[in-house]
Amino acid sequence: MRVLITGAAGFLGSHLAERLLKEGHEVLGVDNLATGQRRNLERLGRYSGFTFLQADVRYPLEVEGPLDWVFHLASPASPPRYLRLPLETLLVNAEGTRHLLDLSLAKGANFFLASTSEVYGDPLVHPQPETYWGNVNPIGPRSIYDESKRYAEALSVAYHRVHGLSIRIARIFNTYGPFMDPEDGRVVSSFIVQALKGEPLTVYGDGSQTRSFCYVDDLVEGFFRLMEVGYPYPVNLGNPEEYRVLDLAHLVRELTGSSSPIVFRPLPEDDPKQRRPDISLAKRLLGWEPKVPVREGLERTVLYFREVVDHIV
Ligand SMILES: NC(=O)c1ccc[n+]([C@@H]2O[C@H](COP(=O)([O-])OP(=O)(O)OC[C@H]3O[C@@H](n4cnc5c(N)ncnc54)[C@H](O)[C@@H]3O)[C@@H](O)[C@H]2O)c1
Repeated sequence: MRVLITGAAGFLGSHLAERLLKEGHEVLGVDNLATGQRRNLERLGRYSGFTFLQADVRYPLEVEGPLDWVFHLASPASPPRYLRLPLETLLVNAEGTRHLLDLSLAKGANFFLASTSEVYGDPLVHPQPETYWGNVNPIGPRSIYDESKRYAEALSVAYHRVHGLSIRIARIFNTYGPFMDPEDGRVVSSFIVQALKGEPLTVYGDGSQTRSFCYVDDLVEGFFRLMEVGYPYPVNLGNPEEYRVLDLAHLVRELTGSSSPIVFRPLPEDDPKQRRPDISLAKRLLGWEPKVPVREGLERTVLYFREVVDHIV
C-alpha cells in the first residue's frame, strides 16, 4: 500500500509510519514541524519506503501518484501546545481535515481521522461510550481543540454520507510511550522528565482527577484493526485502567528511583475531572483491547527518556 500520514514527525504519526514501513508499505509523511520532532523523521528516514514532504495541511496539498490510505494525525495535541497555537489548531482540524478528505476522494483512498477523547469534554457520564455526546464548553480555552475535533468528525461523517467516502474515526484517549516529545507538557512526559532531572513533579489541583493511559503499541494495533473493518463511526481506543494523576506521579517516582518532591499548582480552567474509555465497541468490533499494563509501558518509556533527557536544557 501507499499511505499518506499527516503529522508523521509527531509522536503517534511516527509510530504508525514505522509499523507500516516495517510491514513493507510505502509511507509519505507530511508535517510542518509545528510540534513535531526531527529525531522522529531521522528514525523513519532509515526505511527506503519513507518519503517526507514538509507542508502545512491547512492549505491544499498536491500529491503525485496513487494513495490507498490518508491518515490525518496532524494537530498540536498537548494542552500547552494547542493553547499556544489556537488558530493553527482550529484550522488544521477544520480546513486541514477538509483538504485531506478532498484528497482522499480524488485519489479513491480511505480516510482515517485521529480524533480524541477531548470530544467528551468534562464528561458527565463515566466511563465514556461513543454514544455519549460530551460536555464541552464551546468558547472555553480548550474549545479550539475540542470543538475543532468535533467538527472534523462531523465533516468526515458528512463526506461519508454525501460522497460515500470510506472513513474511520479513532477517538484516542491519552497515549504515551517512547518518542513522545519530552518537552510538550503532557502529564506522562512531564513527570518522567521532572523525575529524571530531580526537579519537583508538578501536579495540577489535588491530583485526584483521573486519566487512563494507553501504551502506544496497543494504540497502533487498534488503528490497524480499525482499518480492516468498514465502520465509519467513532471508535474509542484507550486503556480503561484508570489512574489518579497523583498516583501516576508516585509511580513515576518509584520507576525512576527519583526523590523529587511533588508540588501542587492550581487546576487549569475546564480541566476534565475524570476520563476513562468504555471500549466495549472496540472489543466487539475489532477484538481489541490494550495488552501492555501501565507499569510495564512506563518502564519502557522511562528507558527511552533516560537516553534523551540529558539533551534537554
Ligand atoms: N497522543 C495522544 O495521547 C492523543 C490523544 C488523543 C488524540 N490524539 C491525536 O493524535 C494526533 C497525533 O498526536 P500526537 O500525540 O502524535 O501529537 P504530536 O504533536 O506529537 O504530533 C502532531 C504532528 O502534527 C504536526 N502538525 C501540526 N499542525 C500541522 C499542520 N498545519 N500541517 C502539517 N503538520 C502539522 C506537528 O508538527 C506534529 O508533528 C493528533 O491529531 C492528536 O489530536 C493524540
